[in-house]
Amino acid sequence: MERFVPLYLWLILVLELVFRAAGNAEGDVLNALKTNMADPNNVLQSWDATFVNPCGWDHVTCNDENSVTRVDLQNANLSGQLVPQLGQLPNLQYLELSGSNISGIIPEELGNLTNLVSLDLYLNNLSGGIPTTLGKLTKLRFLYEHFKIFMLVSPCFCFVVMFVLMYLEGFYA
Ligand SMILES: *[C@@H]1O[C@H](CO)[C@@H](O)[C@H](O)[C@H]1NC(C)=O
Ligand SMILES: *[C@@H]1O[C@H](CO)[C@@H](O)[C@H](O)[C@H]1NC(C)=O
Ligand SMILES: *[C@@H]1O[C@H](CO)[C@@H](O)[C@H](O)[C@H]1NC(C)=O
Ligand SMILES: *[C@@H]1O[C@H](CO)[C@@H](O)[C@H](O)[C@H]1NC(C)=O
Repeated sequence: MERFVPLYLWLILVLELVFRAAGNAEGDVLNALKTNMADPNNVLQSWDATFVNPCGWDHVTCNDENSVTRVDLQNANLSGQLVPQLGQLPNLQYLELSGSNISGIIPEELGNLTNLVSLDLYLNNLSGGIPTTLGKLTKLRFLYEHFKIFMLVSPCFCFVVMFVLMYLEGFYA
């Protein structure tokens, strides 16, 4: 009877573990978000951490390299806080979380999302303002939370947009 497990089986096991750890790092990030959220409408039901990657999950889009580029969760009625781990999605371009009940602060780690084009946190319950780290994001074009953010991101549009949003927010009511 073979007493030791053959070396090649160990190698396969180790490679499998390394591959899994590397392969689903982005799934772990999104799962950290899911864990931090109450989800009464079960919109995150398909976010199963045992998948090889999150690309098959609802509301998640990946590029050809199976790296997450979009998270689309508008009007999802989620409650809870954003997690700093969200800064660890290197190819994320669109983070759309408007119309939920997300509270707490915007993590400064979102300033690590160098490919971010749009960050939509409009109609949530966030506090604490916009972290200055978001100023590093050169590709960011759309940032919705309050009218202040438009001035920060797009100075040339600020007068028009400020006027419209102040109106919407009831400044002239
Ligand atoms: C949102 O969730 C709350 C519970 O957290 C529930 O009372 C409410 O009905 C939900 N709204 C919608 C539109 O699903
Ligand atoms: C929003 O979240 C708070 C807790 O953070 C909770 O008390 C409240 O019921 C939630 N509102 C809705 C509409 O889900
Ligand atoms: C992300 O940003 C924070 C500060 O905003 C920084 O402390 C942290 O080291 C960064 N993480 C990575 C992985 O770059
Ligand atoms: C916003 O969050 C606070 C606590 O974080 C909670 O008391 C309040 O009910 C929330 N507002 C809404 C509209 O859910």
